[in-house]
Amino acid sequence: MDKIQTKIILGDSKEVLKTLHANSIDLIFTSPPYADSRKNTYGGIKPDIYVEWFLPISEQLLRVLKPTGSFILNIKEKADNGERSTYVLELILALRKQGWLWTEEFIWHKKNSYPGKWPNRFRDAWERLLQFNKTRDFKMYQDEVKIPMGDWAKTRLKNLSDTDKRRDNAKNGSGFGKKIANWVGKDLVYPTNVLHLAPETSNKNHSAVFPKELPAWFIKLFTKTGDWVLDPFLGSGTTSVVSKKMLRNSIGIEILDEYYKLAMSNIAETEFTLF
Ligand SMILES: C[S@@+](CC[C@H](N)C(=O)[O-])C[C@H]1O[C@@H](n2cnc3c(N)ncnc32)[C@H](O)[C@@H]1O
Repeated sequence: MDKIQTKIILGDSKEVLKTLHANSIDLIFTSPPYADSRKNTYGGIKPDIYVEWFLPISEQLLRVLKPTGSFILNIKEKADNGERSTYVLELILALRKQGWLWTEEFIWHKKNSYPGKWPNRFRDAWERLLQFNKTRDFKMYQDEVKIPMGDWAKTRLKNLSDTDKRRDNAKNGSGFGKKIANWVGKDLVYPTNVLHLAPETSNKNHSAVFPKELPAWFIKLFTKTGDWVLDPFLGSGTTSVVSKKMLRNSIGIEILDEYYKLAMSNIAETEFTLF
């Protein structure tokens, strides 16, 4: 296999992305600045101009992604003045108009979040991972993310009903069907679209680092060794670090020199080891 490349580029994604080859990336995994968050370091883009700010970047993402690739966008709207902001919903609609298919929404449940209380809401303990594609024919390696069957084998599978023994099609016409009896004797099963991961707490040098397991899960699901991963809002370099560990080629783009240098040093410390 060719040598794995980990490229990081200092600059504005809006411009840098124009220099990348069309149809060259297998997975885009990224967490952009959220609207109105972290004004003092980066971002602070107002919710009402967020879509306008994002579209020139996503236009380039659409160009560089392979037709078989996936784009995973980690984002979450804040509550402001007693209401949830709608800019993420508006962004989804605008991306569809731009030519993207909105194929799935995964939820990152932030396990172990400490409790908190606001006058009219509870602690926010989840974020969106929106999946967009160029075609319905995207690559997905579902067997790579199977999980242990767990206690289910000892409880539910011990008492199969008649329905469990035949294929039970969903009543809503979604095409989803299940035959519970198929799982008897199996050790591994497919996960759901909810990921239960604790937030990252160890990185003190960047305020919005996601846990390594987050990109790792999607890299396993959507790429093979030697494929290309892109993060256009690299921050401390988590996506590139994980890509390198997992023997994927990667490109990361970061606008702030301070974080670019941090990402460089995090990548330099990374060994190639499969997760
Ligand atoms: C939410 S943080 C990403 C954190 C990253 N996932 C990690 O684990 O460290 C978003 C990053 O995007 C960078 N950024 C903001 N606007 C950008 C732009 N136009 N081009 C490239 N990077 C940008 C910010 O400086 C910030 O480091």
